[in-house]
Amino acid sequence: MKYDIKTLTLDEKLKLLAGRNSWQLENANGKLPDVFLSDGPHGLRMYDLSAAERTIQKATAMPNLCVVASTWDEEIARLQGATIAEDCIEKGADVLLAPGVNIKRTPLCGRNFEYFSEDPYLAGVMGKAYIEGVQSKGVGTSLKHYCANNREYDRYYQTSEVDERTLREIYLLPFEIATKAQPWTVMCAYNPINGVYASENKWLLNDILREEFGFDGLIVSDWNAVHNSVRAVKATIDLEMPYREAAYPQLKKAYEEGWLTDEEIDARVEKILALMEKTQCEKSVSLTKEQRHEAAATIAREGMVLLKNEDDILPLTAGKIVVNGPFADAPAMGGGGSAYTQTDYRPQTLAQALSERLGERAELIRPHGSLNENLNVHHIKATYKAAYNAEVCVLCVGTGKAIESESFDRANLRLSPTQEDLILGVAKINPNVVVVLHSGSAVDVSPWIDKVKAVLWAGFSGEGGQEAIADILTGKVCPSGKLTETYPLCLDDTPTGAARGNGFAERYDEGVFVGYRYYDRYDKEVRFPFGHGLSYAKFEYSDLQIEKQGETDYEVSFSVTNVSAVDGKEVAQVYVRDVFAMVTRPEKELKGFKKVALKAGESKRVRVKLCARSFAYYSVPLKKWHVENGDFEILIGASSRDIRLTDKLTIELDEREQYSLE
Ligand code: BGC
Repeated sequence: MKYDIKTLTLDEKLKLLAGRNSWQLENANGKLPDVFLSDGPHGLRMYDLSAAERTIQKATAMPNLCVVASTWDEEIARLQGATIAEDCIEKGADVLLAPGVNIKRTPLCGRNFEYFSEDPYLAGVMGKAYIEGVQSKGVGTSLKHYCANNREYDRYYQTSEVDERTLREIYLLPFEIATKAQPWTVMCAYNPINGVYASENKWLLNDILREEFGFDGLIVSDWNAVHNSVRAVKATIDLEMPYREAAYPQLKKAYEEGWLTDEEIDARVEKILALMEKTQCEKSVSLTKEQRHEAAATIAREGMVLLKNEDDILPLTAGKIVVNGPFADAPAMGGGGSAYTQTDYRPQTLAQALSERLGERAELIRPHGSLNENLNVHHIKATYKAAYNAEVCVLCVGTGKAIESESFDRANLRLSPTQEDLILGVAKINPNVVVVLHSGSAVDVSPWIDKVKAVLWAGFSGEGGQEAIADILTGKVCPSGKLTETYPLCLDDTPTGAARGNGFAERYDEGVFVGYRYYDRYDKEVRFPFGHGLSYAKFEYSDLQIEKQGETDYEVSFSVTNVSAVDGKEVAQVYVRDVFAMVTRPEKELKGFKKVALKAGESKRVRVKLCARSFAYYSVPLKKWHVENGDFEILIGASSRDIRLTDKLTIELDEREQYSLE
């Protein structure tokens, strides 16, 4: 180890336990290197500390994690991480404060655009790949927000009351999976979990994260998540962020009173020194600014989801096309708060981008008027007028960063009344409406979905979003994203409805039945199921084989064939159903997936491995993941509600290791 703890005085060590300012670590009077931590998941958001006015530097605005997740492609998650790391290296950020793998428990959560999925396996796998991407460049990550931080309302104080099985199977699992990539740091959440603040929760931080999951890096607090610096150190928080005047005296006093020991302090300092050591690795920039922009556009192209395409109205090929709506001139690049990236890239308007692709075959009309949320009457009238004489109307609507943001939740799932009126009004005049939906989470589309022909979910798509939308609408790119969260019929249909705790505690009464697990269990109709996404190509599934490779190890294989004349990509999903269990289990759970590229007419064999975990539930009395003997169904789906192939297998473990099932 280059940095020796023995060279540090007690005071230097105590000061190291909290930041020097909002973004940097202490450096023990210059004995240690300067380390800079910076947001965030969708691009570098780094303050220029040398500027007189604190300014945020410009960087590549990448698609938000909701879009990255919808690619269902680990390579894409790696690309996102590696691209942002390039900006970090260029600007001098050592650790990127990302990714967040919290579960989308309710579509109201203000930060859902920053998270991957309602499914813990998918969130974990994509989070792990993102970490690998960033760290492959010699930049660290911060896996956050550990854990059970699933809404913004009263996030600093409201305790998340979750039973242990639910915690393990739903809320901890993404962290468990992503930790396998050994993120340099993990960030604790603001909220208490079962009455103990995340920053003081030794059971979660030490016993589970470090000892069970094998995390060997540094644990940093979320910004101002520490209520008592001593309790945080005792819970094994290594670094309190940001600088807080009260931290050092609190720690010093505790040391003098014998409440805090040398061993406890040294253990934390060693983690800080180890992080510093990691930051000193060789790193270099290899992508130009243009290449980074191209990466942003590629990810957006892969992550957008075609939700509806009646009469094959898409792709657009020719004719008079009206383009309007609040997001027609610039797409919603990102949700609000610490995850928002400021870019100097100025996207084309969608009308320009479409015109560039369709050339003389099409006439693009963008009615006059300024495009913002408060579309004025004149503007709306101009749109109606144009719609009357057009073949197709493309309406770019959504939420944007004023509605989906850190620090607060959405009030409901609907679009604004003005936007709903715009869609309904145009649809009355022209039946060929294509909606481009810019949102970071599910939207209640019920007032207008039956009146429009197509919906492309663009998410919050970063600086390459407009190119991606234009490529997909014109068929230059075949859409291949699939939803990583369910679109319910309405808010009341969701597991938590409009409830948001009482400001003191929020009970996770739905247990493990989150997302599709909930809609499946209560047999609820949904608008668009988890895993749904259309393509311009058509795929058929066939020949499911299950090969046993070990006691609980299996390889599932099947063929996917592109039976259309269009090249495309299909996300094939593998779900497992425990036919009978001693505990209540979800109808089915995602245990594997693969995105396959298939040329027109091409067929490929898809192979997915299953292991003990694919069949296990977390048993609280046994204190472990437990596989019960019996039958399990393997369901291969194009979505969670479009199962194409089914077969079953029987697990027969040594009876002596089992528990009575009757
Ligand atoms: C957010 C974190 C973020 C940190 C630093 C906090 O408010 O919850 O996600 O990394 O601020 O900006």
